[in-house]
Formats: sequence, structure tokens, C-alpha cells
Amino acid sequence: MVTSEAPRVESLASSGIESIPKEYVRPQEELMSIGNIFEEEKKEEGPQVPTIDLKDIDSEDKEVRKRCCEELKKAAMEWGVMHLVNHGISDDVIDRVKVAGQAFFDQPVEEKEKYANDQASGKIQGYGSKLANNASGRLEWEDYFFHLVFPEDKRDMSIWPKSPSDYTPATAEYAKQLRGLATKILSVLSLGLGLEEGRLEKEVGGMEELMLQMKINYYPKCPQPELALGVEAHTDISALTFILHNMVPGLQLFYQGNWITAKCVPNSIIMHIGDTIEILSNGKYKSILHRGLVNKEKVRISWAVFCEPPKEKIILKPLPETMTETEPPLFPPRTFAQHIQHKLFRETGQDTLDTK
Ligand SMILES: [Fe+2]
Repeated sequence: MVTSEAPRVESLASSGIESIPKEYVRPQEELMSIGNIFEEEKKEEGPQVPTIDLKDIDSEDKEVRKRCCEELKKAAMEWGVMHLVNHGISDDVIDRVKVAGQAFFDQPVEEKEKYANDQASGKIQGYGSKLANNASGRLEWEDYFFHLVFPEDKRDMSIWPKSPSDYTPATAEYAKQLRGLATKILSVLSLGLGLEEGRLEKEVGGMEELMLQMKINYYPKCPQPELALGVEAHTDISALTFILHNMVPGLQLFYQGNWITAKCVPNSIIMHIGDTIEILSNGKYKSILHRGLVNKEKVRISWAVFCEPPKEKIILKPLPETMTETEPPLFPPRTFAQHIQHKLFRETGQDTLDTK
């Protein structure tokens, strides 16, 4: 177990190095699949991440509404990831969140260090970089800022960036609007399984217990992007994840045996189905394996909000309605905390990709 503090990737990147430290170099078998992200984004052939238009999600016309729900359901079953457009979150709030996050990261590293987290002592909120937590000691090419944004009574305002001054109001408003969107999506996904509308919302903790955690990912320019990853391959543990980004490509999805690059869709929010919904739906909705590439030319920033069930209060297992005699449970009962532990254990000492 390597416990030493990792350096900030931003400092490493701005130091003028031409080759990256060996801890950031991916294993040989993984390097074969890492290409130039700008070239990859241009490719038009092959499967593409679906775009789901939510403008009809609340339509008065039952048939129109049904069509919209069917498309969302299909994307959640086939891909488990999609670009949401006409999602109802105001453009103004999204712009403010992006401007504020960018302004926070534009400050010198010393300024950001005032918000540093301390993972060893369990203080996970704040400014950080990945620690080498597996036997290979491999690191990711990113720094981040992580904090809980909803529900309000669970926030620790002492960790929220004080500068820029719009950070708090913009992020609080975004979190509130996103919480509403999460409810809508969960209802559609519930109906898609033949459940009552409010069922999945309830199963993941409802208004009081479902936690929205924001992670702003900052990927500096990388002198050897063909050797590194911004985020290594993983599936999200959340129920749902919503992602904004600064229109620099980076996200890749492992679909039907190939890495597919997500295009940058203007005014969209990327949404992932996470492991939690995959488990509750007994695998009918997919939590897709994905990773983040970096590049030489542009800093990439993304704003991920993970909607997560409480750690201990809920036992996650396939809902009875999702199983039949021929469809036995695919997942054993586990709390969210146990699920996290299980995944960490599976990853320890492994260099190869692991989906579950
Ligand atoms: Fe992810």
C-alpha cells in the first residue's frame, strides 16, 4: 500500500517536464487502446453515445410523453450513458457553475491547497489528487475538488470555495435543479421496469437521504497523453451521475468490446446510470465501463454530480419485480459501503480492466 501524498498534477504539468513520471504511465496492454482524443472525437463511423431529448418528458399528451420515456429507457438499457438535451436546467445556472469552477481552479495551487482534503484522516471533501491505492501504485492525470452539495442539511459550508463569490450561490442553485431532474429520471426508469413512479427514488433514499456529491475534475495538459489516463476505467457506484464539461473531449465508453469517444454536444448534460440502479434493476439498466483521456493542447474540466444512496441505511439488491424464474438475482445484497469495499478489493493489485 502506497500512502505518500501525490503531487498536484497541475504543478507537475506546469513544471515543463517533457516526459511523465512512471507512476502515470499505464500498463502495456492498456496503452494499445489509448489514441489521440481529438482524432477519436472526429470519427463518425461506429456506434455513438445516444442523445436523449427531454423536452416531452412532462408533456400533457400521454403518447408524446410515453415516446420520450421509451427512448430514455432504451438508452439506459443499451448504453447506461447518454447526452441529455432540453433537460430543463437553466443555461444561466450551468454557465455560472462553469465560470465559478474554472475561476476556482485558475487560482494558484497554494490558494487551492487551503482547501486540501486529507484522505488518510477521512476528510474526503476538498481539493485533492488521487493517491496510489493499489499495488501497482498507478496515478491519474487530474486534480479535483470534491464536496457534498445536496441535501442542504448535510453540506459542510466551511469547505466550499469562498472565491469566486458566486461559487456557493451558483453551485447551490445547480444542485437544487439537478435534484429535481434526478427525481424525473428516476420516475421514468421506475415506469420502465413496470414499477410505480416513485419507487426507485424511494429505494435510493428519497429527498432526505439521496446524496449529491460534486466532483470538479481538472485535467491539465499532458506532455505524453498517449501514455496516461485522466481517469482509469471504472463504472460509477452512484445511482445516477450527471456531468458537465468545458467542451474539451475526453470521455470514452467501453461499448461492445470497443472504446467509443463521446462527442461534445452543446448544452447537454451527460448522464450515467450507476451501479446502484444496475443492481436494483437486476442488470436491466447498465452501468457502463468508462475512462477519461487527456491531451497535450487543452485543459479539460468536468463537473460530475454523483447521486448516491446512504452508505449503511439501505441494502442494495435486485428488486423482487425485476426477477423471474429465468432471471435470478445477478447481485448479492450489499450496503452501498459494502459495494464500495467490494470494488476496492477487486481492484487491489490488478492491472487489468475489471468491470464489477
Ligand atoms: Fe465515472
